[in-house]
Amino acid sequence: MTAVSPQVNVRTLQQKKKNAEKISMLTAYDFSMARLLDDSGVDCLLVGDSLGMVVQGHQTTIPVTLAQMIYHGEMVARAAKHAMVIVDLPFPVGQRGVSHTLKAASKIMKKTLCHAVKMEGGHEQSESIAALVDAGIPTIAHIGLRPQSVHALGGYRVQRDASRLMQDAKSAQQAGAFMVLMECVPRSLAKEVTEALEIPTIGIGAGPDCDGQVLVINDLLGLTEKLSPKFVRKYANVSDIARTAVAKFQSDLQLGNFPAAAESFE
Ligand code: KIV
Repeated sequence: MTAVSPQVNVRTLQQKKKNAEKISMLTAYDFSMARLLDDSGVDCLLVGDSLGMVVQGHQTTIPVTLAQMIYHGEMVARAAKHAMVIVDLPFPVGQRGVSHTLKAASKIMKKTLCHAVKMEGGHEQSESIAALVDAGIPTIAHIGLRPQSVHALGGYRVQRDASRLMQDAKSAQQAGAFMVLMECVPRSLAKEVTEALEIPTIGIGAGPDCDGQVLVINDLLGLTEKLSPKFVRKYANVSDIARTAVAKFQSDLQLGNFPAAAESFE
């Protein structure tokens, strides 16, 4: 009998930090991509509210609704046999107080059957993080650049406030978060935070010393048309492959090469 690799959970991730094994996380927004990433052995699938930008075509993540997060979360969770599935709390859930946050996170867990949630904020969200954890909802705190606060932060910029970053990280850990995600912070700060915390850190634009890395799948595959930030590595150019395939379909159609006899019913 083939051994089925067990589903990643909070203990697996903690163990990875102890063993200095890097944690992989990629975003996923639908069943077919989630299945592919899950088959590839990715540790965590993040149903990020970045779907507002890469799936819906908005300029920010702010328009994404709770119902949309649940819709995409359900599809991803249905595909995951190995990966831990994490769903983002969309704007303005975390900004509306502890009981609203708990209600929204519980709805996400119940409807999507995901394994954890992620919320933006650290120190100022510690009460909400503690309430979620008390309710049995594993929670990730997203600190550094918080895209839902892009207007308050004056744009998507590197966050250099070292004492704030450390305070956010430590408060999140103390409140019971099982992981901290740091976005767009200098690598030296991310390293200090990673060394100071017992829980794992995941970085995006935070240098190589975090306990793991996360990327938006559309960026990694080269499906994003816009200019990517410097921390994105494009591992493929799937846009070009797709364009070539579609052009071939169009020309086959015009030349009478598609469908062929073998592709037709007698
Ligand atoms: O929404 C998202 O996809 C994220 C990642 C960029 C970390 O939060």
